Amino acid sequence: MVLRVRGFEIHKTFLDRGAQEAVVEAVRGVVAEAPLFRPDTPYGKPMSVRMSAAGMYGWYSDKTGYRYVKAHPGGRPWPAIPQVVLDIWDRATGLERQPECCLINYYAADARMGLHQDRDEADFQWPVVSVSLGDDALFRIGNTTRGGKTESVWLSSGDVVVMGGDARLTYHGVDRVKAGTSTLLPKGGRINLTLRVVD
Ligand code: SIN
Ligand code: FE2
Repeated sequence: MVLRVRGFEIHKTFLDRGAQEAVVEAVRGVVAEAPLFRPDTPYGKPMSVRMSAAGMYGWYSDKTGYRYVKAHPGGRPWPAIPQVVLDIWDRATGLERQPECCLINYYAADARMGLHQDRDEADFQWPVVSVSLGDDALFRIGNTTRGGKTESVWLSSGDVVVMGGDARLTYHGVDRVKAGTSTLLPKGGRINLTLRVVD
């Protein structure tokens, strides 16, 4: 089932339980090489999510700002994007071009992500694909400019959201995660992957 909300394509249960488990296993492999860390926002407050990445680029922020970087803060290049994750991009977008960044965000029960645009990529013709694993999250969708009315939808484990076309620069964020709504992750919480073409 595909829901369309303000131009975002929300594919409910794009991944079945077995596929979700395979992706979690692949993510575990990545974070074993590139451990989760908690970046500071440019405003000096630490982010509530913990992060890592795979691919040519990962994401980093500190008091000098947000940016794509080619290495983990520990100094090593990011691990390659796992094939099971590239397969999701292929199936969801049908594009020849492959993503260069797979951001990994881990939301513990109290984590959230403020409304923002994804706008640090070179070319907005390429969509951003987001994969939800674990506990449900209340995902808020705004407008292409700051402010105005918003709509919220619950994202569940296995849901995939394609943010592209006219909605590529639509504001979005995660208000909260509902603990105990999924048994996928033994310690609970939520993993969100976002796949992007950067250059
Ligand atoms: C993001 O926009 O970076 C994350 C979205 C999500 O966690 O669902
Ligand atoms: Fe985003």
